[in-house]
Amino acid sequence: MMIVRTVAELREVLRQRRNGSIGFVPTMGALHEGHLSLVRAARETSDTVVLSIFVNPTQFGDVTDLEAYPRTEDADVALASEAGVDVVFAPAAAEMYPSGFATTVAVHGVLVDSLEGAVRGRDHFDGVATVVAKLLLAVLPDTAYFGAKDAQQVVVVRRMVADLNIPVRIAVCETSRDADGLARSSRNARLSGHERRRALSLSRALFAMRDAAASGESDSAVLVAHGIDVLAHESVVPEYLEIVDADSLEAAPTLDRPLLVVLAARVGATRLIDNVLIAPKTT
Ligand code: PAF
Repeated sequence: MMIVRTVAELREVLRQRRNGSIGFVPTMGALHEGHLSLVRAARETSDTVVLSIFVNPTQFGDVTDLEAYPRTEDADVALASEAGVDVVFAPAAAEMYPSGFATTVAVHGVLVDSLEGAVRGRDHFDGVATVVAKLLLAVLPDTAYFGAKDAQQVVVVRRMVADLNIPVRIAVCETSRDADGLARSSRNARLSGHERRRALSLSRALFAMRDAAASGESDSAVLVAHGIDVLAHESVVPEYLEIVDADSLEAAPTLDRPLLVVLAARVGATRLIDNVLIAPKTT
């Protein structure tokens, strides 16, 4: 496995591999089983697997959140190598944003203004869209792999890729969960034992809502109230808990088709997100 730090080196390494297919997994490091499941999906269908490790400063509104983000490059490189990654692209901030950098890729509308955009500010998705565009243009993969846990990110990236005609297929892999249901996230490393138990209420609330939907409840307000109750058992108050269309992210008052439940909450100082697809009762 090779580690490259500059776009020029990356292009040179990949130039020799373009006769085969290239799969790309963008990450901010602190790799966990969720990332490794993306690598496995990429490995299955690609001749070359590229993984990027870059804690992108422009998508963090809050400097303390950026500073607290776990940085574990040596362990990440070892995990990536074991999982069968061929090339790790781990640029410094100055490589991605050199002096004079003045371009932002911005998606507009409800896709970025709602949910994460409403809480974190629209700069968050400007940062994500800009860095993902830069990474995709540096790697030029056949397929890029994203986790379903960041549902809004996936919708924004798909929109950006379609609007800019970036020639890449976006593959979305199911949210990876610990055995007890907690969605895997690099941020979980920051939870104390007690906080981790409280954090379990997020997936519990989502699963309870999914079960209630499958049993026939179709009023989104009732389903959301049910989820809020489950969270309240652990004194967790959601930043948002909404039922939305999976593509447009518009709020959906009635479960008349499969919809997405999206949830964000702070547990202690750690901000967590999760989501689940729910479907109306089948008769
Ligand atoms: O999902 C992430 O880890 C990041 O948002 C991404 C896609 C690597 C862009 O920095």
